[in-house]
Amino acid sequence: MTTTALHSHDLSTLTTGPAEHPIHPAHRPTGQLRLGVFFQGVNSSTVWRLPQSGDQVAWESFETLIRTAERGRFAAFFLGEGLRLREHREVPLELDVAGRPDAQTLLAALSTITQRIGLVATQNTTYNDPVDLARRLQSLDLLSGGRAAWNIVTTDNAWTGENFRRGGYLDHADRYTHAEAFVKVAQQVWRGEEVVHDGAHYAIRARGTLPRSPQGEPVLFQAGVSPQGRDFAARTADVIFSPFGDLPGAIEFRRDLAERAVAAGRSANDVQIFPGAVFVLAPTDREAEEKFRWVRDLQVGPQQAIALLEQYWGRDLSAFDPDGPLPDVEPEVVESGVTRGAGFQFAKAKELTESWRAEAAERGLSILAFAREKAGSRRGAFIGGYDGVADHLAQFAAVGAIDGLNITPWLVPHGIDDIVDELVPRLQERGVYPAEYAGSTLRENLGLPIPG
Ligand SMILES: Cc1cc2nc3c(=O)[nH]c(=O)nc-3n(C[C@H](O)[C@H](O)[C@H](O)COP(=O)(O)O)c2cc1C
Repeated sequence: MTTTALHSHDLSTLTTGPAEHPIHPAHRPTGQLRLGVFFQGVNSSTVWRLPQSGDQVAWESFETLIRTAERGRFAAFFLGEGLRLREHREVPLELDVAGRPDAQTLLAALSTITQRIGLVATQNTTYNDPVDLARRLQSLDLLSGGRAAWNIVTTDNAWTGENFRRGGYLDHADRYTHAEAFVKVAQQVWRGEEVVHDGAHYAIRARGTLPRSPQGEPVLFQAGVSPQGRDFAARTADVIFSPFGDLPGAIEFRRDLAERAVAAGRSANDVQIFPGAVFVLAPTDREAEEKFRWVRDLQVGPQQAIALLEQYWGRDLSAFDPDGPLPDVEPEVVESGVTRGAGFQFAKAKELTESWRAEAAERGLSILAFAREKAGSRRGAFIGGYDGVADHLAQFAAVGAIDGLNITPWLVPHGIDDIVDELVPRLQERGVYPAEYAGSTLRENLGLPIPG
């Protein structure tokens, strides 16, 4: 098996063993992992052009994926929020389409064909209104019998704001200050408290209108790992949905988050960690490695390679040959305006494109080969035979670096079939994955208390 995470022999140097709470003195590993699945939009992570690929907006795709996930006792099904097509200089990007159907509408429909799996709606705090959003999430929680969750994002792009009456954009730090006030208002609504909020962005007098659900209120996920994002999660969230690092990185992230949670007056186990992950599985390591290369080449063809570089260069690169060297031109730096965002290309484009050019030249990589390495990265990828990957995950569980993984399938809707049919039974045999759902609410299935 080849993954970017460490192999078993490296573990001995990192921990004193699962029984010893190696990561943070107050953290207790549960020895268990849960799984979630993230339905992506159109981008290079999911292959949408094979005969067996589904349609990214068809009901059948969502239905098939969630039914398979529930058969595999997955804790959660995630939908993102893409309120506007990704764009650059007001032109939508052709191969990176963030537009997605509304998450809450879809999850409400999906709640009627499932019984146990959690339903997670990504919703931003920058443009939505808190009382309205809280009420809609609470409605989903009631309708689903206590299975709703909110994946809190602040939205890191510059253009979404132009969809909204208030327009504009918030600086990174302001987005989190705002997010914290937003979530507090939502919790007051859910708890039937009187809401009196006079903030920088709005003034509210409100009261909840609905009873509590069987799990009390929706579970809070938070996606974002900047220092402000981590502190926000440490104070507020039940689960943080993070990018995946290698095992030492995951251990360091756990330690950091546990420290922040304790500093915020919570317990070190109060914030669960669910990194995003990709799985490419086969009966043997060799077959999985071949499959990974095949998948990666499908994910990133010549067109996608150029489109990928255009995002970083900020300009039209269609004249460049995908089989030639990286573009020998400067990136275009767009000055921040009304919708200024945290888009890294504004600050770091020059530095990054220069280092990429140097790296590609040194290694003799073409645009296509380089883009395949960057986009089809092994980072966060579990590539291997079923048994080896199951053993490897069991080590993650024993160390307590993470509480679960949020899978981005490379194929929709059948990209988790082998995970459910081959990997899950092996994880169950190893005692690190639930044989059955613990209960009917998401809080029960994640082992979370009922708040408030
Ligand atoms: C795992 C993950 C999933 C995300 N999904 C969405 C999404 O669906 N819609 C969206 O607008 N932003 C999404 N974001 C981006 C967040 O809006 C933004 O990156 C984050 O809130 C900024 O956090 P940070 O600066 O603390 O890392 C996601 C971020 C992560 C890490």
